[in-house]
Amino acid sequence: MSEGGISARGVRRAFGNVVALQHIDLDAPAGAVTALVGPNGSGKTTLLLVLATLLAPDAGHVRVAGFDPVRQARAVRARTGWMPDVFGTWGTLTCREVLRVVTDTHRMPRARAEARIDDLLGLVHLDDLADRPTQVLSRGQKQRLGLARALVHDPQVVLLDEPASGLDPRSRVELRGIVRDLATAGKAVVVSSHVLSELDEMADRAVIVAEGCTIAVETLDEVAERPRTWRVRALDEQSLVAALDARGIPYGEGDRYGREIEIASDVEAAEVLNALVSDGVPVVAFHPAGGVLERTYLALTEDRR
Ligand SMILES: Nc1ncnc2c1ncn2[C@@H]1O[C@H](COP(=O)(O)OP(=O)(O)OP(=O)(O)O)[C@@H](O)[C@H]1O
Ligand SMILES: [Mg+2]
Repeated sequence: MSEGGISARGVRRAFGNVVALQHIDLDAPAGAVTALVGPNGSGKTTLLLVLATLLAPDAGHVRVAGFDPVRQARAVRARTGWMPDVFGTWGTLTCREVLRVVTDTHRMPRARAEARIDDLLGLVHLDDLADRPTQVLSRGQKQRLGLARALVHDPQVVLLDEPASGLDPRSRVELRGIVRDLATAGKAVVVSSHVLSELDEMADRAVIVAEGCTIAVETLDEVAERPRTWRVRALDEQSLVAALDARGIPYGEGDRYGREIEIASDVEAAEVLNALVSDGVPVVAFHPAGGVLERTYLALTEDRR
């Protein structure tokens, strides 16, 4: 495991008789975005709290940027940015003051801190609201301030719990860009989310948890190589069906979004498309139905509801 990343083995944490984390293994290397996905109540927030030093595990071995979050909490906090799923702060503080609390905590020199705060307020488009109390912010604006707060001290490890929730479409696209840039800059980023289609475009790897256990670790490139459903739509439905029949390619019911066909690999998908076009089918759309991560997730968590 690289120096600046996260490694967690056999992490366990119970609240009374509720076992939130049973046996979690998670690696989040530096320079990559690791998605943390799982059903409601599967332990994602609990795990992120452990990594952020805010909750002690009952058992297990955890290293965040090389340090133990229990015995070396201060060192971990100095290197970790944490964005909780719900932004909490005193509503009377202004956006700028909220960020200043963090720069003061980390004893950043004033001039550098102010420059950093200005940059981040610009990054999350809160410059106009910089000196307004946070209680006037909308939910999405609070989320964006929460993201800025997590990044103020330029942490090596970034933990984001449902960062996209409440964000409008443009802010979501921007969040994706910010998260990718963090990984490119060599940070270890962990993002929990239920919006799997978004993670497809943001994450390099996915750790899937259910009932407090790690049940799968996937790299998104691998997942893309698996068989999946594709959707094909043609201007002329009859010629599409005729061509699929003639070539013995099974297909599902049709609707205005086209027909679904099962295809084993991207190479085969290219062959099918080529064949349809050379048969003269006026194909207007040909694309995977649903994201790769969504498919894997649904298959893995199917029997756990
Ligand atoms: N402070 C607490 N006291 C008691 N039980 C808790 C506490 N925090 C979490 N739990 C329980 O631990 C389990 C895991 O909760 P957690 O919040 O980690 O799930 P999650 O995966 O983040 O869910 P979601 O997708 O809904 O955010 C749940 O059964 C929850 O009820
Ligand atoms: Mg949660």
